[in-house]
Amino acid sequence: MPIQTTPKIWMNGELVDWDRAQVHVLTHTLHYGTGVFEGIRAYATPDGPAVFRLTDHIKRLFDSAHIMGMEIAYTVDELIAATKATVVSTGLDACYIRPLVYYGYGEMGLNTLPCTTDVAIACWPWAPFLGADSVNKGVRMKISSWTRHDHNTMPPASKTVGNYVNSSLAKVEALRAGYDEAIMLAPNGLVAECTGENIFAVRKGIIITPPISAGALEGITQNSVMTIARDLGMDVRVDNLARSDLYIAEEMFVCGTAAEISSVNSVDDRAIPFPGPITKAIAEVYIDAANGRVDRYKDWNELAS
Ligand SMILES: Cc1ncc(COP(=O)(O)O)c(C=O)c1O
Repeated sequence: MPIQTTPKIWMNGELVDWDRAQVHVLTHTLHYGTGVFEGIRAYATPDGPAVFRLTDHIKRLFDSAHIMGMEIAYTVDELIAATKATVVSTGLDACYIRPLVYYGYGEMGLNTLPCTTDVAIACWPWAPFLGADSVNKGVRMKISSWTRHDHNTMPPASKTVGNYVNSSLAKVEALRAGYDEAIMLAPNGLVAECTGENIFAVRKGIIITPPISAGALEGITQNSVMTIARDLGMDVRVDNLARSDLYIAEEMFVCGTAAEISSVNSVDDRAIPFPGPITKAIAEVYIDAANGRVDRYKDWNELAS
């Protein structure tokens, strides 16, 4: 599905026409994958378009850059304001938002120290990644033959552009084999995450999600899910999961900004009961919260204007 265009993209301090948001072919990040990015969503709330946990996403963008040793020439507050202005410029009630920090045109070679950083923020309408109503339909998962990065190879805690070569290899492999999504194992064989989502599996009534040390990104949806689950009185823990924990899970779901929450109906063709009651209860509150319908989580709805 081609990207649906919107009127403007924010580039280095100004909103430029969509078609003019261009870079030179010798842009550094295009060659070496050295940039960092975020994936955020704005939802239509009763008070107007609101960006879900925008401050947390922009802070994670700065953390990603910090891990990479990249300097961003703007403050957190400036990029929050820029994101809101970009959303407003689209005239959309709800959209996906992609901030990208990249080393621009001017220097070449692997030494990034002399490079200047550029920032772009684009928004466009984008349906949930793993299909509409994936809570009820469930998705088919395959353990990837590709291993998640070791912490000393490519830091998985940073949303670095080049990290996603690994995710893309796994995603395409899974799709070609007839599955919906891939599960990545860490170099030590423990479950890390999916190509763009965190994993939750229920074992003996306890909801378990793998830690950052297993190679998972510190997901903002994962954090929202844990908050909602605890507020619903559920037992949720950050802990390691083995591949076999997934095969015999009472229920399993994956979550991320782009995918929202999807039930898993099988892993490597081992059926998993779906949609599970825990998954359904959490997903219902999450969607209500994102759309500004839950007073308790109003802080998560950062109004665009
Ligand atoms: C590799 C990876 N894991 C997990 C996630 C989920 O993170 P979040 O819920 O913050 O979108 C993402 C999406 O950003 C991701 O790219």
